[in-house]
Amino acid sequence: MQSLLNKKIVLGISGGIAAYKTPELARQLMQEGASVQVVMTEAATQFVTPVTMQALTGNPVYTSQWDNSVANNMAHIELSRKADAILIAPASADLMAKLSLGLADDLLSTLCLARDCPLLLAPAMNKQMWEHAATQRSVQRLHDDSVAVLGPASGFQACGEVGIGRMLEPSEIAEQTIAFFQKKILRGKKVLITAGPTFEAIDPVRGITNHSSGKMGFAIARAALEAGAQVQLIAGPCDLPTPLEATGKITRTNVTSAKEMHTATLAATDCDIFFAVAAVADWSVAKPAKEKIKRQGKEAPNLEFIANPDILLDVAKTVKTKGGKPYPYCVGFAAESTNLEAHAQEKRKRKGIPMVVGNIGPDTFGSDLNQLLVIDENGSKKIAKAEKLELARQLIQLVAKKI
Ligand code: C5P
Repeated sequence: MQSLLNKKIVLGISGGIAAYKTPELARQLMQEGASVQVVMTEAATQFVTPVTMQALTGNPVYTSQWDNSVANNMAHIELSRKADAILIAPASADLMAKLSLGLADDLLSTLCLARDCPLLLAPAMNKQMWEHAATQRSVQRLHDDSVAVLGPASGFQACGEVGIGRMLEPSEIAEQTIAFFQKKILRGKKVLITAGPTFEAIDPVRGITNHSSGKMGFAIARAALEAGAQVQLIAGPCDLPTPLEATGKITRTNVTSAKEMHTATLAATDCDIFFAVAAVADWSVAKPAKEKIKRQGKEAPNLEFIANPDILLDVAKTVKTKGGKPYPYCVGFAAESTNLEAHAQEKRKRKGIPMVVGNIGPDTFGSDLNQLLVIDENGSKKIAKAEKLELARQLIQLVAKKI
């Protein structure tokens, strides 16, 4: 799936050492289907060459407004008129100050002033420059002018200092650019999601878990963020990166056991939508050993199990109504090997929730692909096989209509 298919992006580069990462950003945008037209300031050409950007994007790179090799030298000002967005990475303190004042003294700043498309900036500068009152004034003005400012991040800086001002990584900028183009159908909404497996200890080194990768739950978290929601993600043990973390709109709580997941989730039920995507263990070991159980010849230990709390059921019990709608709107998941629709419908009723989403197997665990059967009071609706992120976006659309 390409999330930027048919999007035309003018990629501006201003003069900063983070420009060494921009070729990678261009590549990632193009992998997502965007066509990329690069415009560089003169200072940017000190850090990365126009030839590099031209070779990667397959498009001529513009660096000057006085380019007499272009037949109609107003033509490249037209670039921004054809674009779906201008994205500048890195955006230097100098460029941001200029843009905040509406100055237009080179090609890139002129394009920005002449544009009729959104502008996204990924600032990159030294900590002192970012924190300077003048830069903060520029950022505030740019916000007021509806310019999207992506980042910056904190961490090691090229000057040797550590602090805020680093450009976001290319993957984060690409992820946020993709998010920018999604419809904000959950703006102002709070979404709670459980994801991944749980791990039930037998002793300090062993435990019982399952094959859930967490990918579907994390995809739903990303799709909800893209739709403008604030997300609380309660994740069982899985290695996946937190989606759109740099936006600051997602809080992730890592848990291990079903009990921990239950406590963390029940503490966060003040939300508009709850997606119970986690594959929660049904049982845990009644008395996990404090020390590693030693092997005793051929004898195997007898483990006693107790039932885990049902997180979804307990959240469903907290549901109130707000504006005549259930709050939170609870969505359960079902992974069944047989009779998916009947089992899912039974689950929906038993748990007293309005929607259950069935994974149409057989190989959904760990895969990037899946297909879903959405079951609600009106019956069932199939979402055809696609990448989990695409399925998550479609599911978010369905649920957004419900609330
Ligand atoms: O029938 P089952 O209880 O397995 O239903 C699965 C659904 O319930 C999933 O949405 C899962 O996240 C949720 N669940 C839960 N707590 C449990 C077991 C399942 O939230 N202990």
